Amino acid sequence: MDKIIISDKLSEEGIKILKDAGFTVDCKYNLSAEELKKIIANYRGIVIRSQTHLTRQIIESAHNLKVIGRAGVGLDNVDIEAATKKGIIVMNAPGGNTISTCEQTFALMLAAARNIPAAYRSLKDRKWERSKFKGVELYSKILGVIGFGRIGKEVSKRALSFGMQILVYDPFISGDIAERAGVKLVDLKQLLKQADFVTVHTPLTEETKNLISDKALALMKPKAVIINCARGGVVDEDALYRALKEKKIGQAALDVFSKEPPLDSKLLELDNVVVTPHLGASTEEAQVNVAIEIAHCVKDALLGKAIRNAANYVQIEPEVYKVIGPYFDLCEKMGKFIFQLIEGRVKNIKVSFLGEISSYKVDVLTAAFVKGFLSDMLEEQNVNYINALEIAKERGVKVEQIKIQEEEEYVNSVRVKVATDKKEQVLEGTLFANKEARFVKMNDIYIEVAPSQHMLVINNQDKPGVIGFLGTVLGAHKINIAGMSLGRSAPKKVALTILNLDSPLSEEAVKEIQTNSNIVSLKGVKL
Ligand code: NAD
Ligand code: MLT
Repeated sequence: MDKIIISDKLSEEGIKILKDAGFTVDCKYNLSAEELKKIIANYRGIVIRSQTHLTRQIIESAHNLKVIGRAGVGLDNVDIEAATKKGIIVMNAPGGNTISTCEQTFALMLAAARNIPAAYRSLKDRKWERSKFKGVELYSKILGVIGFGRIGKEVSKRALSFGMQILVYDPFISGDIAERAGVKLVDLKQLLKQADFVTVHTPLTEETKNLISDKALALMKPKAVIINCARGGVVDEDALYRALKEKKIGQAALDVFSKEPPLDSKLLELDNVVVTPHLGASTEEAQVNVAIEIAHCVKDALLGKAIRNAANYVQIEPEVYKVIGPYFDLCEKMGKFIFQLIEGRVKNIKVSFLGEISSYKVDVLTAAFVKGFLSDMLEEQNVNYINALEIAKERGVKVEQIKIQEEEEYVNSVRVKVATDKKEQVLEGTLFANKEARFVKMNDIYIEVAPSQHMLVINNQDKPGVIGFLGTVLGAHKINIAGMSLGRSAPKKVALTILNLDSPLSEEAVKEIQTNSNIVSLKGVKL
C-alpha cells in the first residue's frame, strides 16, 4: 500500500483516516530540507502544515510523489509550479480554520484597541496605570478589509455586529457581492485613507507582496491600526517599523511575519505592536477540522476517487463530471492516435469542443488530449492531467482550446487539429449513446471507427481489390481483423481504410502490404 509522510504535526483524527484507509503513515516532524529531500522519493503522499517548505529542490527529488496535502490555507510554502511540472497534485484544506483565524483577527483588533497586552504587563509588574491605557471603541469606526475571501467575509460579518462601517478592497469580487454583504467596495487608496482599522486577508502572491508599503502606510490615519493575520510578506516589515517608530500610524497587531519565528525582528522592540506567534489557526477546532479535511482529500486522490481542493487541477463538480467524464477516455485516445500519425515538428494543437459540451469547463479534456498526445513521446516523464499542458508549453507546443456552441453532425464532438512544420492532421471524435468512443472524421473523410488497442491506418488508391488484398495478407500472417472503416472524399481518389486488429501488426506483414502499388501510406497505431 502507498506510503504517506506527515512532516508537520497533524491532529490524530487526520492520521487515523489515512491509516484506516490502509496507507502506511510515517510521522517525521522537524526534518531539515536535506533530510526530507533524501527520503521523499519513498512516498506517494505528503501532508504538511506551514513549517515544511516544499521547495523546487525537494519536489524534484520526489520521484514517486502523487499528492501534496496542506493542512491549512496558505500554499506559499509549496513550489506549485515545480509540483505541477512533476504532475503532483497540490491540495489544501481551506475552510477548516476560517473561523479561528477570523476570531484571532478580532482578538488582535480588540487587544490593540484596548491596549490589553501592555495593560496586562503593567499590572503583572504590580502597577495600576488606568489612565495610561485609555483605549478606543470599535463602534462606529471604519474597518478596511483587504481581501474579501473566506476570512475577510467572516471578519466583516462580526465587525458589522460591532457597529463598524466596512470598506473592502478586493479586485476579484463584484460590487453586488459587497452590497449583499453590507460592505462598500472601494479602491485601496480610499480604504487606506479612511479606515481606522485595516485588516489584511489576502494570500501572499507576486501582487500582494509588500502591498502595505511605505507609500500605503503614508496614506493611513495617524492613529490607524493595521492587523495582519494573513501572511508576513503582505506588509513590508521595514516600512511598518518606520511608520510605527515615527508614529505615522497608531499601532500594528501581527500574527504572521515574513520570517518565522521573527526573533530578531526590530518590530518586537516597539511598544505600539501587539504580536502573537502565528496562532490564527491554532485552536482545537481548527486543527481537527483541517486534519480531517486534508486527510480525506489526500486519501481520495491517492485512491483515484476524487480530486478536491487542488490548486493545480480544475475541480469538477459531480453534475459536470456526469457530462464531461465519459469524454476523458475519448480525448486521451484521440491524442495517442493522432500523435502516431503526424509527421514533422509539432507547432500547435487546436482542440475544439462542439455542441452542448462546449458550455462546460472543458480544460481538463484538453489536458486529457494533450496527455494522450505527449505520453508516447515522453514516456519517461509521467505525463498526466496535471502537467500535460505545462509540458506542452515547455516544449513550445501552443495548445488552443476552442468552443463552438453549434453542433454539426453530432450533438457533441471533439475536433482536433495538429499542425506540424510539414502538414496538418485533423481528427474528430464523439461518443455514441454517450459512452461508446468513435472517431468519426479524419481530415476531410468521414469514418466510423471504435478506437482499439491495435489499429492499421491506410491511405490507398480507391480501386477494386485493395480490401481483399489486405484481408489476404493479414490472414496469411494470422492477424485477425476485428473491425473496418472505409471512407473517401470522392470516388477514385485516395481513400482511407482503418482496421481494428486483434494482435499487433508484424514487420513482415507491413512489408508485404507495402508491395501493393495501390497502398499510398500505412501506419500501425497502438492505443
Ligand atoms: P481566500 O482565498 O478565501 O481569500 C483571499 C481573498 O484575497 C480572495 O477574495 C482574493 O480575491 C483576495 N485577493 C487576492 N489578491 C488580492 C489583491 N492583490 N488585493 C486584494 N485582494 C486580493 O483565503 P482565506 O481563507 O480568506 O485566507 C486568507 C489568507 O489568510 C490565506 O491566504 C492565508 O495565507 C492566511 N491564513 C492565515 C492563518 C493564520 O494562521 N494566521 C490561517 C488561515 C489563513
Ligand atoms: C494557514 O494558512 O492555514 C495558516 O497559516 C495556518 C497554519 O497552517 O499554521
